[in-house]
Amino acid sequence: MPKQTGLFVSFEGGEGAGKSTQIRRLAAALMAKGHAVLITREPGGSSGAEAVRHVLLNGAAEQYGTRMEALLFAAARSDHVEQVIRPALSRGTIVLCDRFMDSSRVYQGVTGNLQYEFVEALQRIAVNGVVPDRTIILDIPAEIGLERAKTRGAAANAGPDRYEKEELETHEKRRQGFLDIAIREPERCRVVDATRSEEQIASDVLKLVEGLLMPVRKAKAGAGEAGP
Ligand code: TYD
Repeated sequence: MPKQTGLFVSFEGGEGAGKSTQIRRLAAALMAKGHAVLITREPGGSSGAEAVRHVLLNGAAEQYGTRMEALLFAAARSDHVEQVIRPALSRGTIVLCDRFMDSSRVYQGVTGNLQYEFVEALQRIAVNGVVPDRTIILDIPAEIGLERAKTRGAAANAGPDRYEKEELETHEKRRQGFLDIAIREPERCRVVDATRSEEQIASDVLKLVEGLLMPVRKAKAGAGEAGP
């Protein structure tokens, strides 16, 4: 197995927390400093996982239950890890991933009511040793996040997806679920207050990632990689 030399950063949080905006800003800042960066997302990020994404987000798998959905998320994650994330890390790339294993722990585990051990076992198989070096949890009250997600959906002329449709109470439980993971794994996770301005959040996020950059071999200036 090739040695991992890159840096793996995942972004987590509820709907409308601003993950994709912050990932784009962080990628630009890191690329300007000469790092090779790959932006990717879950569910998806590899061709096999993107096929599963469609089934999960349009609600087609919902009728088969949360256990089935959790297995599908794990299958998609495994493909994404082996086809995209692990190879990028072994090239020395900084991988920025919009959602990863903690989303399954929270959406399928906490609010999907699946057994903790079952969800953990699935994650071990899916990530197969590729655990983020840093996880940024963008924290926002569910009410504000949902309002933002609705505005975004309206602008894109898209209705709410399978998960956005759920009750406010469910979204608050998820917020708490992410905060609990941060408490359990303080080395890996950092919570960032996502109610502040885009600039303030971006500056905090850059600091949290830059602190880990020492061992990363610098690539040629502007060496970005295209995301999916
Ligand atoms: P997406 O359209 O990517 O939106 P978001 O901006 O919220 O990330 O939708 C992904 C949805 O899938 C989101 O509601 C969370 C859910 N999800 C899970 O339930 N489990 C998982 O393991 C992952 C990765 C995502």
